[in-house]
Amino acid sequence: MGVFPSPEWLKSAVFYEIYPQSFRDSNADGIGDLNGIIEKLDYIKGLGCNALWINPCFESPFKDAGYDVSDYCKIAPRYGTNDDMIRLFRQAHAKGMRVLLDLVPGHTSEEHEWFRQSTKVERNEYSDRFIWTDGAFSGYALPFIGGESKRDAAYILNFFKCQPALNYGFAKIDRPWQMSTDSPAARATKQAMVDVMRYWLSRGCDGFRVDMARSLVKNDDAHHHATIEAWKEMLSPVKQEFPESAFVSEWAAPQDALSAGFDMDFYLNHEKTAVREANGYNLLARRFVKDGEQEKDLSYFTADSGTSIKAFLADYLPEYEATKDRGYFCFLTCNHDTVRLAPRLSDLEIKIAYGMLLTMPGVPFVYYGDEIAMRYYALPTKEGGYFRTGSRTPMQWGAGANLGFSQGAKEDLYLPVDPSQDAPTVEKQEKDPDSMLHWTKLLLGLRPGHRALRADGGFEVVAAPENGRSFAYLRSGDDGERLLIALNPGLEDERVALPDGLNPAESEDCLAAIGQVRPESGEEGNALSLGAQSFAVLRC
Ligand code: GLC
Ligand code: CA
Repeated sequence: MGVFPSPEWLKSAVFYEIYPQSFRDSNADGIGDLNGIIEKLDYIKGLGCNALWINPCFESPFKDAGYDVSDYCKIAPRYGTNDDMIRLFRQAHAKGMRVLLDLVPGHTSEEHEWFRQSTKVERNEYSDRFIWTDGAFSGYALPFIGGESKRDAAYILNFFKCQPALNYGFAKIDRPWQMSTDSPAARATKQAMVDVMRYWLSRGCDGFRVDMARSLVKNDDAHHHATIEAWKEMLSPVKQEFPESAFVSEWAAPQDALSAGFDMDFYLNHEKTAVREANGYNLLARRFVKDGEQEKDLSYFTADSGTSIKAFLADYLPEYEATKDRGYFCFLTCNHDTVRLAPRLSDLEIKIAYGMLLTMPGVPFVYYGDEIAMRYYALPTKEGGYFRTGSRTPMQWGAGANLGFSQGAKEDLYLPVDPSQDAPTVEKQEKDPDSMLHWTKLLLGLRPGHRALRADGGFEVVAAPENGRSFAYLRSGDDGERLLIALNPGLEDERVALPDGLNPAESEDCLAAIGQVRPESGEEGNALSLGAQSFAVLRC
């Protein structure tokens, strides 16, 4: 068990991440909104997703797409009202779905009232809510801004210039202006964040995805022990009052994140650490290596990369083993900070990728549009997106105006829709049994009927050849069910030996397949023959 018991519903949860700006515009102003999300709940449920994570939808000047919050307890008018959000919670619940909002605890917008008060010369309740040095000219090792306030001090940033760091104190104090983690100011910040969580949870919210969860306490050690303590303190009253609530961290170090009380942590591609040049998730889909002038794509899912699954497992397995009884380490198809897989990978490569990503242990997250393999569409930056903007374009619903995203004028759209003639849409793919949409539905549709695919189902590596491209693993349920999952993303046929006792039977036992995957039994025992670019889920 984790620090706090995780809600049972997570075991069969599948999340759909919504970037609210771009999902569905219900009132023709060109920006997605909460009513648009409500309209599409049945669609999301039809995909096989029973939970949502909505990126920040609170009042904000949108210099970082809403990750610069100016009021945590007010829905941004462009998305609707607090009542719309409450209606969204109710309608989702009526359909058996859950809703996570996005909590940004490390920083606010520079336009938040707390920060405005904090910049004042006169002492007030918020003077120490942010981290201020002892003079406008006295900077520090952390990013800071001086010369912007009447107050004669510089303030520490958490991310962009518009995002001053909230004060959770310092683990190691090396300047007189730094406060401890149990100073009254740090306590007040934690209390304020607990109040924000309570505000939404008591109105029907089911939990939070937590932004930059490891960033709270400054000068923390490598494992963020002081930040872990801060989270335990904050989550303890919240979990007690709302035992069904769920928390997923943007931390990318599950052992630390789960020790802090999170139920789940994300496997992310963009975290480099002192010991890892590229983490496992990165190795799967986004591994590029400079080869002279050229950049080589060595990602496991890239058909001609030649990469074995071994390096991924070297990163993943220790984390999985150390955390499997305490919570979940979650795979995502992509997110709002990451370049989409299409069009870099072909549809076939992506289908095999989803085969694995959506059948591994933990709770899967599908990024809106990935179910139709929406393409990364390079665009000028919008709301602090920079390269991320290309993964944030409007959802492509159908043939209508603006591909069904909005009835508004083209010039008013939040971002342009993919202009390609052959841009994938939900409407087209619904009619095509070979589409990405059908494949995603097929994979997610396996989960309700197969306990082996639950978040906490067993996981065991069956084959991971060093000199090969194949990967086979066994998922097992508490009802004794065993599913063998095998893939070969490469361009050559391969054959892997199966351990004794593992007898995948004939075709009626194949629950999902791409290409040729055939069980074989011979004198040397059982084996699996995996054609080029193949994937299968087999009953054993
Ligand atoms: C997280 C968010 C990202 C945001 C940043 C600052 O990484 O996912 O979108 O820009 O934090 O809040
Ligand atoms: Ca709108």
